[in-house]
Amino acid sequence: MNDLIGFFDSGMGGVSVLHEARRILPNEHFLFFGDNGNAPYGPRPLAEIRALCAAGIDRLLARDVKAIVIACNTATSAYAKILRQAHPELPIVGMEPALKPAHFARHGGKVLVLATKATLSLEKYEKLKARYGADVISVVGTGLVERVEAGQADAPETAEHIARLLAPYRSEQIDAVVLGCTHYPFLRRPIAALFPDAQIFDGREGTVLRLKDLLQRGGLCSDDTPGSIEYQTSGGPGVIDRMQALMASLDAE
Ligand code: DGL
Repeated sequence: MNDLIGFFDSGMGGVSVLHEARRILPNEHFLFFGDNGNAPYGPRPLAEIRALCAAGIDRLLARDVKAIVIACNTATSAYAKILRQAHPELPIVGMEPALKPAHFARHGGKVLVLATKATLSLEKYEKLKARYGADVISVVGTGLVERVEAGQADAPETAEHIARLLAPYRSEQIDAVVLGCTHYPFLRRPIAALFPDAQIFDGREGTVLRLKDLLQRGGLCSDDTPGSIEYQTSGGPGVIDRMQALMASLDAE
């Protein structure tokens, strides 16, 4: 089954998940669509996020994808249920902040969850918090998606912005930090530097392992060697080059 697997994000963030997918599923053919022209989604009202998700994911469906990965916590919280209802036959994998493993990694301290305003305010996160939310500090990553989108992930100003944003929590005992937005793995270094004793979690590997499991169960795995990646964007010129550069930046980790 050598058909495409569709990947969707509001922009560059999904590339961090795609990187993990290429590592774990090297024979697959991926079609990545980043809605960079409309990022960030996080501060938008729910109805608007849903409409953007519908339009973006329709582009993937039009290519007869064999599975869809919503490589975005915000889009998953807003739209995964609706998409699954509309396409019950299609394997659909979403994302959620990795609060569960972070919760069990605590040793007396707290978990700091960094995510978008929408992710932190929607029902999915409320449910997660009800189960694993003891001693959680939830922080909206204001301005972070914009910096990654602008190609500023490694800029000193971005590290300064992060330091200011997270300064109020540095006096707490933080045992785990959850990167609850797929743009944030590109900011891992400056975030981790502020909490040197904390373990850092994100949901990328879990999401891709779930995808692998669904492909195997459905007899949908590709036997091509090697696989491939096609990038698409609603953004302007240069965006796809930046996606590829971000992909390469994760190779170095
Ligand atoms: N990558 C998206 C996420 O995981 C970012 C959302 C946004 O565009 O604000 O939440």
